[in-house]
Amino acid sequence: MSFVVFGVLFSIFCGNVLSDICSNNSKFDCVCKSFTDQITHLPLTIADCGDAGIETLPTDLGEDLSILDVSSNEIGSLDAKLASKSLVKLILSYNNVSKVAVGFFDNLPNLKYLDLSNNFLTSFDNAEVFKKLPNLRYLDLSYNNFKSLPEFIFSPLKELRRLHLSYNDLGEYLMPNKAVLGDVLGVTPNLTHLDLSGLGLKELHTTYFDHFVELKTLSLEDNNLTTIPTIPYTIEFLDLSGNRLTVISAKYLNYHSLKVLKLNRMNTLTSIHHYAFYNLVSLEKLYITDCANLKEFSDLAFDDASKDIHHHPKFLSLARNGLESLNETYKYFFKRMEHIDLIHNPWNCDCNILWLKDFAQELNRPHELRCSYPDQLKHKKILDLEPSDLKDCFPAIYGKKSHRALIVVLAVACVTLCGLIFYLLRYPVNGFAGRHRIGPNSPYVSAPTTEPI
Ligand SMILES: *[C@@H]1O[C@H](CO)[C@@H](O)[C@H](O)[C@H]1NC(C)=O
Ligand SMILES: *[C@@H]1O[C@H](CO)[C@@H](O)[C@H](O)[C@H]1NC(C)=O
Ligand SMILES: *[C@@H]1O[C@H](CO)[C@@H](O)[C@H](O)[C@H]1NC(C)=O
Ligand SMILES: *[C@@H]1O[C@H](CO)[C@@H](O)[C@H](O)[C@H]1NC(C)=O
Ligand SMILES: *[C@@H]1O[C@H](CO)[C@@H](O)[C@H](O)[C@H]1NC(C)=O
Repeated sequence: MSFVVFGVLFSIFCGNVLSDICSNNSKFDCVCKSFTDQITHLPLTIADCGDAGIETLPTDLGEDLSILDVSSNEIGSLDAKLASKSLVKLILSYNNVSKVAVGFFDNLPNLKYLDLSNNFLTSFDNAEVFKKLPNLRYLDLSYNNFKSLPEFIFSPLKELRRLHLSYNDLGEYLMPNKAVLGDVLGVTPNLTHLDLSGLGLKELHTTYFDHFVELKTLSLEDNNLTTIPTIPYTIEFLDLSGNRLTVISAKYLNYHSLKVLKLNRMNTLTSIHHYAFYNLVSLEKLYITDCANLKEFSDLAFDDASKDIHHHPKFLSLARNGLESLNETYKYFFKRMEHIDLIHNPWNCDCNILWLKDFAQELNRPHELRCSYPDQLKHKKILDLEPSDLKDCFPAIYGKKSHRALIVVLAVACVTLCGLIFYLLRYPVNGFAGRHRIGPNSPYVSAPTTEPI
């Protein structure tokens, strides 16, 4: 009898303890979904426990949980080891994690994706923390307070392909040593995506990225770089926004596989030189936006646009720069492009801007293109410019400017002449000359002298 009671109690007790985070009586407020993986045809369970006020991670994840999202909670430290054979993806971003216990990730043999971004981590106790994650492909440590990392911490991650270290205080640690990522931290040369944004990087040695033979995506946003560093030729996506570049020239851009280039948010940038993008034969998308001092965009930035060349981007955004004009030869490119954005530049509305009116279909938000100069056309929409606004550009209608000046001079001369003729006719020279003459033939006689009586 007592045996049965014990058995019931045991099962209730165990039921509670073992109840995974997706069961109805779980104390965790998670939304769980199960489905069959399209490719492997295995059952998958996703637990979304985001923003649920969780302070301590659940220890029992159940039998077939694949994805656990505990982002936006209040988890302060990762102590009790998590164990799951099925867990593939673990999202711990936006918590209060400041400490990870040694061995915490040791029992997650199938983990491929780990997001620890937006926490308060300053260091890892030793280099063993990722030791038992041979399948990890994605690791995000961005938006923490790391100042350094243990040597060889990434060495066990043979399958790592994407690494995010952005927005930490790692600049000083990563900069001086030219091979720190590979030789000191042990990042695999097979990495394809690397994010080193917001680290305070000023200068990188020309061999800095030599280690990476498969790198396709590199983000170096919001650093203090003054030149474009040397990058592997495999690169396809490069973001250098928010650095301190001043000019863009062909010297630094020699990447035949590069498809997307971003050069946004740089007040220091003033000029795009001749042939700056000439060597980027695979370029599909080019973003140069929010560079208030960018005034010069060479007519030959890609090549002579009037030549029938086909390696130019299909997507070009030049929004919110300081451009006052763009050479008319770009019309040859624009005809073949899919997206062109030129809004919010201080366009100078002279004859050289009128060609843009032909691209109302192709331009993004064409009605937001406005003149900043000259003063009398300020705020006028470029698409609304009439011949009468720019008379100089329509000599057939309004005559050439020099002709118009001549016409004015001639008209003034004509009026003066007519006035003179009229005057002369009205008051002939003779009448004028003899009017007051008094003499024998004069029609006038001298006034009689009246003798006083
Ligand atoms: C859990 O709750 C759902 C609906 O709230 C119900 O359909 C389901 O049967 C419950 N499962 C268990 C094991 O109680
Ligand atoms: C988490 O961090 C935030 C901001 O630092 C703080 O307001 C909050 O009290 C912390 N929560 C816990 C449980 O420590
Ligand atoms: C890189 O990838 C290749 C091919 O997938 C593999 O043979 C090699 O061992 C990998 N290198 C490292 C250091 O993991
Ligand atoms: C980077 O440049 C910004 C803006 O000029 C400056 O405030 C910051 O201190 C610089 N950082 C470093 C690491 O030099
Ligand atoms: C536009 O570019 C062409 C060819 O590169 C050049 O001859 C012409 O002077 C340029 N026009 C303006 C207004 O700068």
